[in-house]
Amino acid sequence: MAKDKKKEYIYIVQASLEPSKCKIGKTNDLERRLKEYNNMTGKSKENIYQYLFTCEVKDMAQVENAVKEKFAALREEKSKEIYFYNTPLFQHYANFIKLHKLYVREIFIKTEDKKEMVKIVKKTTPSLEERGISRKEILQKAQKINNDEFYTRYEDVEKELTMYNKRIWKNKVVFCNCDDAVDDNEKNTSAFSLYFIKNFNELGLKKLICTHYSGVVDLFNQGAKGYIFTKDGFNEFKEHPEGYTGSFDHPLSLKILNKETDIVCTNPPFSRAADYWDLTINSGKNFLIISNITNPITPAFIPYFKNNKVWAGYNEVDWFLTPKKELTRAAGHWYTNFSIKDRPKYRNLKIIPLKEIPEKYKKYDDSKILVVDNNYIPNDYKKPFAVSARPILNGLLEKGYKIIQDTQYFPYENGKKCFGRALVQKIQ
Ligand SMILES: C[S@@+](CC[C@H](N)C(=O)[O-])C[C@H]1O[C@@H](n2cnc3c(N)ncnc32)[C@H](O)[C@@H]1O
Repeated sequence: MAKDKKKEYIYIVQASLEPSKCKIGKTNDLERRLKEYNNMTGKSKENIYQYLFTCEVKDMAQVENAVKEKFAALREEKSKEIYFYNTPLFQHYANFIKLHKLYVREIFIKTEDKKEMVKIVKKTTPSLEERGISRKEILQKAQKINNDEFYTRYEDVEKELTMYNKRIWKNKVVFCNCDDAVDDNEKNTSAFSLYFIKNFNELGLKKLICTHYSGVVDLFNQGAKGYIFTKDGFNEFKEHPEGYTGSFDHPLSLKILNKETDIVCTNPPFSRAADYWDLTINSGKNFLIISNITNPITPAFIPYFKNNKVWAGYNEVDWFLTPKKELTRAAGHWYTNFSIKDRPKYRNLKIIPLKEIPEKYKKYDDSKILVVDNNYIPNDYKKPFAVSARPILNGLLEKGYKIIQDTQYFPYENGKKCFGRALVQKIQ
């Protein structure tokens, strides 16, 4: 009878002395199973099994098999029920189970040895006293948080990176050199790091290297030191080289960039974007980065677009997360030197004869330079004309036009200075 039917559960369990592994299994009795695990090892303060995730399902054998199949590559060779563990992977396992059609609900088991788990699931906020700082200092630091501390959302990373042919990643070393690398708490892990960890096998990556910048103003990680997180196959480790700040221009970061990296991928601090672009583009590596949407008409960056060293990626990025994980708006765009096939945004360009461009979108400035707007581009105009960033982001320079000066062009209308633009010309 349905009433007597035993409940079925799937669990993820971990032993405190084996933080890089976990077990995923099925049971009808969560409490008994946990006791069995702990008796098996001989319950001791040193090695305690603890559930990381438990849930009720409709058919535990079926869900367990689905997990085995899905994460076959993440199961340890010798004992197949053991899976590799780190926070992003764990999230991946739990999400997969939660999305399974036979998932019923998550179960929260209260166990005695919670304190021991602090060793594994590290996340405590030390008191101000422990951190040796005053409330006033905290407030002063908080005021310094600017858009250098705008974090990219996972969906924005995924949306852009999935647009490229998977082959670009095959056997490549990816370097995220302005990222908070990998924290035990996924919430503190950069979306870039997370994306590459989750898709490491799928993309066929050779290695992932992410750095953490110690100068970061982060209310929860005062005084953190710069470190390097490396994922080399299943091998994952963090190094804290002495005196390493994690800055993208630190000699050690430069060594990784120049000697090891194939592809650089990150959202660098807005305030250091000019240095960052200089360094990255001159390294000759492939890159996929987020920067300000106005870069194509900003003096420090115009030469790169003019000399065809960089072009827009596929997407804009309008929303970011603050350190407190609140949504905030900022005008970002992807930039790359990977080729973009059939750029979808070409269709935004309206390349037509000058006389067909509506009057309100074309004018001549005080120097008689044509200024066009709203993505209108004349296809029969031989002289230089001024455009905003938008047509360049939409691929204008791939459509037979070139930027003809390294600096911004400022139109004047009746003596009044207008917004800066780029001066472009049709290639003869
Ligand atoms: C705009 S945020 C983006 C963070 C992360 N890449 C993301 O997309 O979520 C820029 C990050 O670069 C860090 N940063 C600032 N100066 C840096 C430097 N010199 N070298 C490396 N990272 C730096 C900031 O602390 C911040 O975490």
